[in-house]
Amino acid sequence: MNYDKKTIRDIDVSGKKILLRCDFNVPHDKKTGVIHDDTRIVSTLPTIRYLLEHNAAVILLSHLGRPHGQWKQEMSLFSARDHLEKLLGIPVPMTTDVLGPDTKAKCAALQPGQVVLVENLRFRIEEEKNDPEFAKELASLADIFVFDAFGCAHRAHASTAGVADYLPSVAGLLVEKELAFMGKALDEPQRPLVAILGGAKVSDKIGVINSLLQKADTIIIGGGMSYTFQVAQGGTIGTSLLDADHIDYARDMIAKAKAQGVKLLLPTDNVVTQDFAADAPSRVVPSREIPDGWMGMDIGPETAACFTEAIQGAGTVIWNGPMGVFEFPAFAAGTNAIAQAMSTLENAVTIVGGGDSVSAVEKTGFASKISHISTGGGASLEFLEGLELPGIVCLEDR
Ligand code: 3PG
Repeated sequence: MNYDKKTIRDIDVSGKKILLRCDFNVPHDKKTGVIHDDTRIVSTLPTIRYLLEHNAAVILLSHLGRPHGQWKQEMSLFSARDHLEKLLGIPVPMTTDVLGPDTKAKCAALQPGQVVLVENLRFRIEEEKNDPEFAKELASLADIFVFDAFGCAHRAHASTAGVADYLPSVAGLLVEKELAFMGKALDEPQRPLVAILGGAKVSDKIGVINSLLQKADTIIIGGGMSYTFQVAQGGTIGTSLLDADHIDYARDMIAKAKAQGVKLLLPTDNVVTQDFAADAPSRVVPSREIPDGWMGMDIGPETAACFTEAIQGAGTVIWNGPMGVFEFPAFAAGTNAIAQAMSTLENAVTIVGGGDSVSAVEKTGFASKISHISTGGGASLEFLEGLELPGIVCLEDR
């Protein structure tokens, strides 16, 4: 996939109407609408401001949740709209339909320097189906398509890819930044490249491990998925998470890493408990000798020190997935150790890729010391896998 895409800086947007696809799919309270984490909204502000300052009229598009073509009030974008109004300091009118008479009237009346938000696109089933007629009608509202919804780049929907068949299409500044950091880290990383993978399921990371085996110098595996790798090496893991269908795969990966000269680091000790509870009594045991009835909740201190040492020599670090049950403070030490090690690197590029890892790193308090925190969950995983992302592929090459 070519990462060198035209951006809004490469084209003349003055006096033009812009369809700007954002990802306002933010965690929020379903009853009150209160937004728990506005990172994705804040990350798109530079693009919106740039367009407004350059005399464009901006039609904002997004989805929220998965209503699958049903009008569900709890998935309305109204709280994103309210929040955006506060952040931008200008009125952000919102449409009362999706591509109906209200959308058409509000978009037709829009003037340069003004912005309008279209209600949740997934209230129409044609959005997810990438219906060509729907995409064409959406495109007819504007002169240019700008894609800034990196979190949705792996979706081939009408507003993420379909509209690009009908309009000149370029990247927004957030997508430009995501591609610059993640693309460079994969294609021409400052070496050594250390990839840290955690999280619960091996199956979620199969493609990522495969792809990183071709690119990384060191792969660190921790968190819930590491126990399957311990079993693959003959270990016993008590009641820890096991992805039984992927034991052979884990064994293959260990062999492949050896054959390719990639250093693969697995935990050597774990913090274990008998119950999955925040205050469960714990002890530290060797990773391949977890006793019956005990489950791994975090990496142990010896492992944290070993992983820290590997990180300290890195030129680039990419991290996806926590090292343990970081939501419980008693089992967050391993995840904290990784974030802290990354935060102290002075000349390295450090990247945290999406989803759980983002809330994990934010909880550690080291987020501001990381070079780039991706706004993509599934999208950043697919990016790391080396897959073609429909929302990126459809944009014009530079
Ligand atoms: C995300 O949160 O990963 C994106 O907004 C995409 O949402 P989706 O998984 O519902 O397509």
